[in-house]
This record gives sequence, C-alpha cells and structure tokens, in this order.
Amino acid sequence: MISGETKVVTLMGDPVEHSVSPAMQNAAFEELGIDYVYVAFKVPQESVKEAIEGIRALGLEGANVTIPHKSAVMKHLDGVDDIARKIGAVNTIKRDDGDLVGLNTDGMGALRALEEEIEEVEEKKVTLLGAGGAARAIAFTLVEAGGELTISNRTESKAKALAEEIEEKTGQEADQIPLKKDELVGAINETDILINSTSVGMHPNEDETLLRADSMHPDLTVMDIVYNPLRTKLLKEAEKAGADTIEGLGMLVHQGAASLEIWTGKRASIETMKKAARKAMEGK
Ligand code: ATR
Repeated sequence: MISGETKVVTLMGDPVEHSVSPAMQNAAFEELGIDYVYVAFKVPQESVKEAIEGIRALGLEGANVTIPHKSAVMKHLDGVDDIARKIGAVNTIKRDDGDLVGLNTDGMGALRALEEEIEEVEEKKVTLLGAGGAARAIAFTLVEAGGELTISNRTESKAKALAEEIEEKTGQEADQIPLKKDELVGAINETDILINSTSVGMHPNEDETLLRADSMHPDLTVMDIVYNPLRTKLLKEAEKAGADTIEGLGMLVHQGAASLEIWTGKRASIETMKKAARKAMEGK
C-alpha cells in the first residue's frame, strides 16, 4: 500500500513507455517487503535540469537515468563516482544526505551476468563488438575487473578512440581490430568471452548477426546485450558452435538489481526480477 511514508524512485528518459524497469523494480520491492515504489517519467531533453531539481525538491530516494540523458544529467549532480565518470554516463542516482550522487551500474550488470557463467573475468580475453554507449560501460568495467579487452566496431575510428581512452584513464591496455570476418575469427580463436554490444539482431531485425557458428568455438562464452528477442540470432549461432550463451536479459536485470542495492542496501532476487521483466516484455 502506498502511504505518506512510501519512498519513491524514478526512471527518467525519453522514451520510457516500453521500459521493463518499473515492473522489475516494483516486483523486487514487493518481494523484499520494503515500502518503495518505482515510477517512470518521460523527460524531454530541455527539461533534464528541472527534473533533477524536482528529485531534490520532492526528496525522492533516487533514480535511474536512461537514453538520452545518461551524460546530460552529470553536470547537475553534486558528485559522480569514479567508474561513472570514466564511462561518461550515469544510469543511477542516489541520495546521500542532501546530495545527489551519480553512478553507473550498466557495466556491473554485464559483469554480474557474466559471473553467473564464468567464475572470474580477471585475465580472461574479452572481444567486445561495438563502441557505443553500452560498449563504454562494459569496456571500462571489464578492464577494471582485469579482463583483457579487444574492441571491434563497424566505425573503426570509434573503436580506436575508445581503446585509447581506456588506456589513458585506466592505465590498462586495450586492443582494437576491424569488424571484418578474417580479423575477427583470428581474435575470437584466442577469446574466452565474446560480447555483442551493438544493436544488431534487435527486433525487428531478428535474422541479423555479426557472427555465425563457423566463427565461434566451444570454449567461448557469448553474451548479447540485445534482449528483444531474448534469444538472438548470435546466441543461436553460438549455441550451434557449442559455446555457452548469456542472454541480454541477464545484464538488464543485474544492472537493475545493482541499482536497487544502491538505493536500499538490499539484495533482490535475480529470478524474481527476471520473471517480472520477462512478463512485462510479453505484455508489450
Ligand atoms: P548504445 O548506447 O545502445 O550502445 P549507440 O551508442 O548508438 O547505442 O551504439 C550503437 C553501436 O552499434 C555502435 O557500435 C554501432 O556501430 P557504429 O559505431 O559503426 O555506428 C553499432 N551498430 C549499429 N548497427 C550496426 C550494424 N548494422 N552493423 C554493425 N554495427 C552496428
């Protein structure tokens, strides 16, 4: 029951109508038996500053931030933690006394989803397809966790710039290779973990994949960040090659659980959140 004491967490983005976060977070709050509610707000670009002021004025507990505001919110906050600053994007805001602090759980979501299948990312060879916003969060987090990263992107200059930025900001090496079959196959032969952080394979282009089974091998773990459809063409091809696969829903749910932990200090059931997210997706 919502009462005068209910704590409110918001999602701000544009669009937010199809977000599964409200279903996923409210299911977790309910199961934990805590008096929180999560509500999504569509915030246009020109209202980001006012939205942050609104969070302050209303004394909300925290927020998630999604596309296209993840970078724009940063300058309106009182502080941004180290990894979010490196990534250059905030997806989670928490209240710290009177201050609003920005964090980023997207990379952590990917790391935790991987850790469901792989004991330790440290010293593992990771090939990351893509160099966009999602790739940045994953790249910085996995490098800081000790992964040995190679980035491959359609626009090579972006992969190169990201690899250089990672070296500069973390002091750790990151490689980049062209997104071309010959070069990729060579790299993937040496790779433990392959991650697709591009939008290739996303609904309605469900037949698209950057790689087929003949480019993969059985010792590989393949994760896709695309979660609509749940089993992407890439994951089906990986399965054919005998590789382990991790669905994009894993990252989505783990980033949500990491945000919930930041707001409440509590660990939610991943299964409960996954179930709620799946159900919300079916309803769309
Ligand atoms: P997000 O925030 O979801 O990461 P983004 O920043 O727009 O979105 O990045 C999209 C990523 O998908 C980019 O790496 C993009 O490659 P480019 O940098 O070359 O644009 C990649 N991408 C999208 N469509 C693609 C396609 N058809 N083939 C290969 N890569 C594609």
